[in-house]
This record gives sequence, structure tokens and C-alpha cells, in this order.
Amino acid sequence: MLNEAFHRRDGALWCEDVPLDALAEAVGTPVYVYSAGRIAANVARLRAAFDPLGAAIHYSLKANANLTLIGLLHGAGLGMDAVSAGEIYRALNAGVAPERIVFAGVGKTPQELAYALDAGIGWFNVESEAELRTLDTLAGQRNVRPHVALRVNPGVEAQTHRHIATGHFGAKFGLPPTEVADILARRADYPHVDLAGLHVHIGSQLARPDETVEAARTAQALAAPYPDVRTLNIGGGFPVAYVGDEGYPGPQAFAAALAPLLGGWQVKIEPGRSIIADAGALLVSVLYVKTQGGQRFVLTDGSMTELIRPALYDAVHPVVPVGNLSGDVSDAVVAGPVCESADVLNRCAPLPDMRSGDRLAVLGTGAYGMVMASNYNMRVRPPEVLVQGAAWRVIRRRETWDDLLALEREADSK
Ligand SMILES: Cc1ncc(COP(=O)(O)O)c(C=O)c1O
Repeated sequence: MLNEAFHRRDGALWCEDVPLDALAEAVGTPVYVYSAGRIAANVARLRAAFDPLGAAIHYSLKANANLTLIGLLHGAGLGMDAVSAGEIYRALNAGVAPERIVFAGVGKTPQELAYALDAGIGWFNVESEAELRTLDTLAGQRNVRPHVALRVNPGVEAQTHRHIATGHFGAKFGLPPTEVADILARRADYPHVDLAGLHVHIGSQLARPDETVEAARTAQALAAPYPDVRTLNIGGGFPVAYVGDEGYPGPQAFAAALAPLLGGWQVKIEPGRSIIADAGALLVSVLYVKTQGGQRFVLTDGSMTELIRPALYDAVHPVVPVGNLSGDVSDAVVAGPVCESADVLNRCAPLPDMRSGDRLAVLGTGAYGMVMASNYNMRVRPPEVLVQGAAWRVIRRRETWDDLLALEREADSK
């Protein structure tokens, strides 16, 4: 997963024009590092693929909601896809105009819906008739009429990890086609919403475009009798090249497969991973090396609390030395200090001889990394650093032990 941003110079790992050993020395580890250049290149690639379809790109905040990164992507002209009032709050704080935000999510609370209506959010992706009823009532009370897209569960099995497949009938997401047809036929029951679109998102890290095309077709057939329902949000899911996924199609292949369907439609997409995953790396330091059961264990100061994807999704992220380490390579289990056997960053990383203090980079961790970080085992969450050319800056500081106490201390004083 090395790319033009994370690359080697004289054998050592750099991000753009910054040597990562020096950056880690200055900030400490574990630390997330993001490349502004790679983010821009990923946005350009998506634009090249989807601009010809007239698609509006809404960056999926769930992938990485750092304020500076939101600002960067907003500056690049992207709208946002939020799945909670917290994400909306962040986006608004980063300067995003509310009408550029779509609000998705299977279980929005009435308070969240009210907040979003009051903020003037552009689109609501609605996932149940009960939610539609609640939204309609709240909108009526406010004398507003928000745009709504019903999320269709098209009943397709996306080829991806079962935890991130969302378009099959066993999943909690969306509404089955029969129910969407029924609601569309009774649109007049909901006079306070402008039910003008349909939404499909069948999963993340999709191995091929076919199922997305099938889902889009299902949605279009449902909208066919209603000429004013011509917005189609096809979600995100465009994959990145983790270990074993190198041959997966890029956004261009998805756009090419969808293009023949989409003439006359207002198209939206909600990519997250394909914008930010390979623009980020988690730097960790080796604490100890030991051999057990015939395996070499490289124990690092980074763990599942910084990056849960290997434990949660069996994700395989490349782990590479940061310094210029030479010598014979053999497989190692790279693991963290957390008291869980699942706390493994990579079960089979080809690495040279490693010693305490050596640093490693876990690549492809810009998406679903920091946003899923936790304080389990009372570990502080790591800082985030943004690299732009030869410059870098901390865009979120490392938490402190006092941060770990703060919310309970505040509760004590009330
Ligand atoms: C509704 C919806 N839209 C967009 C996304 C972003 O997906 P990805 O990061 O794979 O592009 C997700 C994530 O699963 C999602 O649930």
C-alpha cells in the first residue's frame, strides 16, 4: 500500500516530504499521520470518475471526522454524509453549509431529527416508515419541508466482510422494495416532506460493481412511476487495496458500470474509505520482541484501541518498517499491549529483525481508524498529524491521563 504519499527514500519511509522517523521522534507514538496530497489525489480520482455523471460527492464522515480533514474536504468542494447529530455538529463547526449535508442512519433519534431540521440539513435518508412519520411530524411543527430519500434494501449480497454488508434482507438497513413501493404510492400521507429520492448503500469495501448496479436498478424501477423522484444516492463502498484486495476495481470501474443507468437522474455518492484510507498510516514503536509457539511476536505500543479493524473485520493492513532496516525477512505477529488475544495489528507481517525502539507503519489506516479508537484498558487516544509537502502539524493532540478522568470529575462536582 505504499503510494506516492507514503514512499521510501534511501530505504526509509516518508510521507510526502517528511521523514516519518523524525516526525515520530517529535510527536511520539502511536500517532496517525495523514497526507493532504494523497487526499487531494483521491478526491481528483473520484471526480474524474463521477463528474461525467453529474454526481454530487458527499464525503462519509464516519470514515474519519477530524475537523481539519473535514475543512480540507469541504475546501475541495465536497458535501458531507453524516450519520449522527454529532457528525452534523462537527461538519457545521468545520464550516460546511447545512444544505450540503445528507443525514443518513438507521436509528436517528427524534432529537437528532429535530436538530437536523433546525440546522437546515439538505437531505434525509430515511430507513423506516416510523422514522418517516416522525420526520414528517417534526417538519410540520417547524413549517419546513425537507428533501427525503428512502433507503432501499435491495436484497443483494455484496461481496465483502459480513460486518460491512448492508444490502441484504438479513441486515437492519433500509426498507424492502415492497415497502418502498407502498410508501411511494401513499406519499400524500406525508405532506411535510419532499419525498424526491431513493438511496442505496449495499456495503463497504465492495469487491465488484455488479451488485451496486443491481441495487441502483432496483431503486430506479421503484421510482419509475414517479417522475419527480429522480434523485438517486448510490452510497459509498468503493474499495481500497488492503493486503489481498489489490485487484479490486477503482471508482472509475463503478462509475463506468453505473453510467448507462443514470442519464436524467440527480446522482449522489457517499464515499469515505476511498478518499481517506490510503492517505493515512498509524506509526507505532516496537516495545519487545519474543518467540512463542514457534512464532515471532513483535509487541508494539500501538494496539486495537488505536486500530480495531484487524480484530473487528479480519482486516489485513500492511505493516512496514519506518526506518531503513535491511536483512532477511520473516513473518511476525505484530500485536499490542491490550489484554485481549484479538489485539493483533497483523498476524503475518513480513519483517526484518526488529528491536525495541524500531518503528513500524500500519498502512491504509486513514479510514475507520481513529474514529473507532477507544480508551479500553485506559489507554489515551493518539494524536493525528497532517502532512502537506515538507510541512506537518498536529491536528488533534494526544489525550492525557487527565482527559481520562475529566468527565467523571465534572460529574462529581455537580
Ligand atoms: C450509508 C453509508 N454511506 C456511505 C458509507 C461509506 O462507505 P465507504 O467508506 O466504504 O465509502 C457507509 C459506510 O458503510 C454507509 O453506511
